[in-house]
Amino acid sequence: MGALLWLLLLLLFQEDCDHSPIANLSCPESPAGLFPSFLSLSSAEGDSGDGVDPEEMVAVLQESVSLPLEIPLDEEVEDVIWSSHIRLATVVLGKEGQPATIVVTNPRYQGRVSFPEPTYSLHISNLSWEDSGPYQAQVNLRNSQISTTQHYNLRVYRRLSQPHMTVNFEIPGEEGSCNMSLTCSVEKAGLDVTYSWIPWEDGTDTAHEGSILSTSWRPGDKTLSYTCRASNPVSTVSSRPIPAGPFCAGTRAPGPEIGP
Ligand SMILES: *[C@@H]1O[C@H](CO)[C@@H](O)[C@H](O)[C@H]1NC(C)=O
Ligand SMILES: *[C@@H]1O[C@H](CO)[C@@H](O)[C@H](O)[C@H]1NC(C)=O
Ligand SMILES: *[C@@H]1O[C@H](CO)[C@@H](O)[C@H](O)[C@H]1NC(C)=O
Repeated sequence: MGALLWLLLLLLFQEDCDHSPIANLSCPESPAGLFPSFLSLSSAEGDSGDGVDPEEMVAVLQESVSLPLEIPLDEEVEDVIWSSHIRLATVVLGKEGQPATIVVTNPRYQGRVSFPEPTYSLHISNLSWEDSGPYQAQVNLRNSQISTTQHYNLRVYRRLSQPHMTVNFEIPGEEGSCNMSLTCSVEKAGLDVTYSWIPWEDGTDTAHEGSILSTSWRPGDKTLSYTCRASNPVSTVSSRPIPAGPFCAGTRAPGPEIGP
């Protein structure tokens, strides 16, 4: 994320500065106010202060996720502190085989989290949208001031429902040919959904990327069928194949909505 912002900013910068060196802060047309405030923003966030990218985790709404933790095997661990924005829980390891003491400090997670031994990973069940975001695990050693912190970024998605398709077509022109567009959508799709249309029968397997497929048909053409596929990081769904030609040929009442 940070890297992407940087890139965008640098691109902006480069354009504004007419290809002068990227770091040329004296560039007159540069968004001078933006640059320093961005820099301070980045250091204030400090999430990746130790130069480690967070581990990206994806999970399904109302299901569960486990954020894996690695703890040193050759050192005695005093405690593990899990946080997300604010402290989530403290796990104080027991001495000499005693069980660990767990205190869940964020009431939002009460009753939904567990910390399976031996690594005290964070297991969250019944995930909600609000559970998305950064997580950290700080591992403190018993006989040392050194602690290690592991970073995670959790994204929660809904499993996609069956896609819906809408067909729009233009009134047949000369020789009955017509153009049409097929639109694919998924209810409550949320973020990071990609759509593609896959033609059947033509054997090329070339998918058209995007939710709208524009195609044309004329009488005598082979009737192509298309399947819409929608994906997000946790699911992929496909429609049944839609034969495109008949909409134009008028062999069918043009019902604009086609069920899944
Ligand atoms: C920075 O940009 C200014 C204005 O575009 C230019 O005069 C100056 O030579 C540049 N400095 C460097 C180090 O490139
Ligand atoms: C899961 O959380 C929702 C609120 O986010 C709650 O309404 C529901 O009862 C919970 N389900 C279980 C099985 O705990
Ligand atoms: C279909 O689209 C093509 C361009 O893609 C255009 O030349 C043609 O006139 C369109 N036909 C109709 C019936 O709109």
